[in-house]
Amino acid sequence: MSVAIYPGSFDPITLGHLDVIARASRVFDHVVVAVMVNPAKRFSFQAEERVRLIQRAVRDAGIPRVEVESFGGLLADYARLRQASVIVKGLRALSDFEYEFQMALTNKKLNPDLETIFLTTTADYMFLSSSMVKQVAGFGGDISAFVPACIREDISRRLSPEGSAIGGANHE
Ligand code: PNS
Repeated sequence: MSVAIYPGSFDPITLGHLDVIARASRVFDHVVVAVMVNPAKRFSFQAEERVRLIQRAVRDAGIPRVEVESFGGLLADYARLRQASVIVKGLRALSDFEYEFQMALTNKKLNPDLETIFLTTTADYMFLSSSMVKQVAGFGGDISAFVPACIREDISRRLSPEGSAIGGANHE
Protein backbone atom coordinates (compact mmCIF):
# COMPACT_ATOMS: atom_id res chain seq x y z
CA MET A 1 0.00 0.00 0.00
CA SER A 2 1.43 3.41 -0.93
CA VAL A 3 1.19 5.87 1.95
CA ALA A 4 1.93 9.55 1.33
CA ILE A 5 2.25 12.28 3.91
CA TYR A 6 1.16 15.81 3.07
CA PRO A 7 2.72 17.96 5.81
CA GLY A 8 2.20 21.61 6.61
CA SER A 9 1.13 24.30 9.01
CA PHE A 10 -2.37 24.64 7.49
CA ASP A 11 -2.99 27.77 9.54
CA PRO A 12 -5.67 27.68 8.13
CA ILE A 13 -6.26 25.21 5.28
CA THR A 14 -6.95 26.92 1.93
CA LEU A 15 -8.61 25.77 -1.29
CA GLY A 16 -5.09 25.33 -2.67
CA HIS A 17 -4.24 22.84 0.09
CA LEU A 18 -7.53 21.01 -0.45
CA ASP A 19 -6.76 20.75 -4.17
CA VAL A 20 -3.40 19.11 -3.40
CA ILE A 21 -5.09 16.67 -0.97
CA ALA A 22 -7.69 15.70 -3.62
CA ARG A 23 -5.05 15.15 -6.29
CA ALA A 24 -2.74 13.21 -3.94
CA SER A 25 -5.62 10.91 -2.98
CA ARG A 26 -5.98 9.95 -6.66
CA VAL A 27 -2.32 8.97 -6.84
CA PHE A 28 -1.75 7.19 -3.50
CA ASP A 29 -3.67 4.48 -1.63
CA HIS A 30 -3.66 6.47 1.60
CA VAL A 31 -2.87 10.12 2.32
CA VAL A 32 -1.97 11.35 5.79
CA VAL A 33 -2.37 15.10 6.15
CA ALA A 34 0.11 15.96 8.90
CA VAL A 35 -0.50 19.18 10.80
CA MET A 36 2.66 20.56 12.33
CA VAL A 37 2.82 21.14 16.08
CA ASN A 38 5.57 23.54 17.08
CA PRO A 39 5.46 25.28 20.46
CA ALA A 40 8.04 27.80 19.27
CA LYS A 41 5.84 28.97 16.40
CA ARG A 42 2.91 31.34 16.64
CA PHE A 43 -0.25 30.01 14.99
CA SER A 44 -3.71 31.55 14.68
CA PHE A 45 -5.37 28.14 15.20
CA GLN A 46 -4.30 25.47 17.66
CA ALA A 47 -3.20 22.15 16.15
CA GLU A 48 -6.41 20.34 17.08
CA GLU A 49 -8.48 23.15 15.56
CA ARG A 50 -6.47 22.94 12.35
CA VAL A 51 -6.96 19.14 12.28
CA ARG A 52 -10.72 19.50 12.73
CA LEU A 53 -11.03 22.19 10.04
CA ILE A 54 -9.16 19.98 7.56
CA GLN A 55 -11.25 16.92 8.50
CA ARG A 56 -14.45 18.86 7.85
CA ALA A 57 -13.18 20.23 4.53
CA VAL A 58 -12.03 16.78 3.36
CA ARG A 59 -15.33 15.17 4.40
CA ASP A 60 -17.38 17.91 2.75
CA ALA A 61 -15.40 17.57 -0.49
CA GLY A 62 -15.87 13.77 -0.41
CA ILE A 63 -12.16 13.02 -0.78
CA PRO A 64 -11.55 9.35 0.01
CA ARG A 65 -8.72 7.59 1.93
CA VAL A 66 -7.48 10.67 3.75
CA GLU A 67 -6.50 10.81 7.42
CA VAL A 68 -5.64 13.98 9.30
CA GLU A 69 -3.32 13.97 12.28
CA SER A 70 -1.06 16.42 14.11
CA PHE A 71 2.63 15.75 14.59
CA GLY A 72 5.54 17.26 16.49
CA GLY A 73 9.23 16.62 15.83
CA LEU A 74 10.94 15.68 12.63
CA LEU A 75 8.94 14.85 9.54
CA ALA A 76 11.50 12.18 8.60
CA ASP A 77 10.80 10.37 11.90
CA TYR A 78 7.06 10.78 11.54
CA ALA A 79 7.24 9.23 8.05
CA ARG A 80 9.06 6.21 9.51
CA LEU A 81 6.42 5.91 12.24
CA ARG A 82 3.62 6.00 9.67
CA GLN A 83 5.51 3.69 7.27
CA ALA A 84 5.17 6.30 4.56
CA SER A 85 7.57 6.30 1.64
CA VAL A 86 6.47 9.60 0.08
CA ILE A 87 6.08 13.21 1.13
CA VAL A 88 3.78 15.26 -1.09
CA LYS A 89 4.23 19.02 -1.34
CA GLY A 90 2.50 21.63 -3.47
CA LEU A 91 4.61 24.03 -5.53
CA ARG A 92 3.08 27.36 -6.40
CA ALA A 93 5.85 29.44 -7.88
CA LEU A 94 9.58 29.59 -8.33
CA SER A 95 9.78 31.43 -5.01
CA ASP A 96 8.64 28.22 -3.22
CA PHE A 97 11.29 26.16 -4.90
CA GLU A 98 14.48 26.97 -2.99
CA TYR A 99 12.93 26.36 0.43
CA GLU A 100 11.15 23.19 -0.70
CA PHE A 101 14.32 21.88 -2.34
CA GLN A 102 16.23 22.45 0.90
CA MET A 103 13.58 20.62 2.93
CA ALA A 104 13.44 17.71 0.47
CA LEU A 105 17.21 17.25 0.59
CA THR A 106 17.28 17.49 4.40
CA ASN A 107 14.51 14.90 4.72
CA LYS A 108 16.34 12.62 2.28
CA LYS A 109 19.49 12.82 4.43
CA LEU A 110 17.51 12.06 7.58
CA ASN A 111 15.49 9.27 6.00
CA PRO A 112 17.03 7.93 2.76
CA ASP A 113 13.96 5.77 2.07
CA LEU A 114 11.77 8.84 1.77
CA GLU A 115 10.93 10.51 -1.56
CA THR A 116 9.50 14.01 -1.86
CA ILE A 117 7.08 14.49 -4.75
CA PHE A 118 5.87 17.92 -5.84
CA LEU A 119 2.47 18.61 -7.33
CA THR A 120 2.37 21.86 -9.28
CA THR A 121 -0.39 24.16 -8.20
CA THR A 122 -3.64 24.44 -10.08
CA ALA A 123 -3.39 27.84 -11.82
CA ASP A 124 -6.38 29.24 -9.91
CA TYR A 125 -4.50 28.88 -6.61
CA MET A 126 -1.06 30.13 -7.61
CA PHE A 127 -1.40 33.27 -5.52
CA LEU A 128 -3.09 31.65 -2.54
CA SER A 129 -1.52 31.14 0.89
CA SER A 130 -2.65 30.90 4.50
CA SER A 131 -0.90 34.23 5.13
CA MET A 132 -3.02 35.90 2.44
CA VAL A 133 -6.18 34.45 4.00
CA LYS A 134 -5.14 35.81 7.40
CA GLN A 135 -4.37 39.20 5.97
CA VAL A 136 -7.68 39.53 4.10
CA ALA A 137 -9.79 38.14 6.95
CA GLY A 138 -7.88 40.25 9.46
CA PHE A 139 -9.25 43.35 7.78
CA GLY A 140 -12.75 41.90 7.62
CA GLY A 141 -12.46 41.02 3.89
CA ASP A 142 -14.34 38.27 2.03
CA ILE A 143 -12.35 34.99 2.00
CA SER A 144 -14.95 32.85 0.25
CA ALA A 145 -12.75 32.46 -2.86
CA PHE A 146 -9.84 31.26 -0.73
CA VAL A 147 -11.07 28.67 1.79
CA PRO A 148 -13.53 25.73 1.70
CA ALA A 149 -17.13 26.97 2.01
CA CYS A 150 -18.03 24.64 4.90
CA ILE A 151 -15.41 26.17 7.21
CA ARG A 152 -15.38 29.76 5.93
CA GLU A 153 -17.44 31.15 8.77
CA ASP A 154 -15.29 29.56 11.49
CA ILE A 155 -12.14 30.90 9.87
CA SER A 156 -13.59 34.39 9.31
CA ARG A 157 -14.85 34.56 12.87
CA ARG A 158 -11.48 33.65 14.35
CA LEU A 159 -9.42 35.87 12.06
CA SER A 160 -11.67 38.91 12.06
CA PRO A 161 -10.43 41.90 14.06
CA GLU A 162 -12.99 41.03 16.80
CA GLY A 163 -12.21 37.28 16.75
CA SER A 164 -8.46 37.79 17.03
CA ALA A 165 -8.97 40.02 20.01
CA ILE A 166 -11.13 37.38 21.70
CA GLY A 167 -9.64 33.96 20.97
CA GLY A 168 -7.10 34.17 18.18
CA ALA A 169 -3.33 34.18 17.92
CA ASN A 170 -2.88 31.07 20.03
CA HIS A 171 0.49 29.79 21.03
CA GLU A 172 1.02 26.02 21.13
O1 PNS B 1 3.10 24.76 5.61
P1 PNS B 1 4.55 24.94 5.95
O2 PNS B 1 4.71 25.86 7.16
O3 PNS B 1 5.38 25.36 4.78
O4 PNS B 1 5.08 23.47 6.40
C1 PNS B 1 6.40 23.30 6.84
C2 PNS B 1 6.63 21.87 7.37
C3 PNS B 1 5.65 21.52 8.46
C4 PNS B 1 6.45 20.88 6.23
C5 PNS B 1 8.09 21.83 7.90
O5 PNS B 1 8.31 22.90 8.74
C6 PNS B 1 8.43 20.54 8.63
O6 PNS B 1 8.58 19.52 8.02
N1 PNS B 1 8.55 20.64 9.96
C7 PNS B 1 8.88 19.52 10.80
C8 PNS B 1 10.32 19.65 11.32
C9 PNS B 1 11.31 19.01 10.36
O7 PNS B 1 11.22 17.85 10.02
N2 PNS B 1 12.32 19.79 9.90
C10 PNS B 1 13.37 19.30 9.05
C11 PNS B 1 12.98 19.28 7.61
S1 PNS B 1 13.15 20.87 6.94
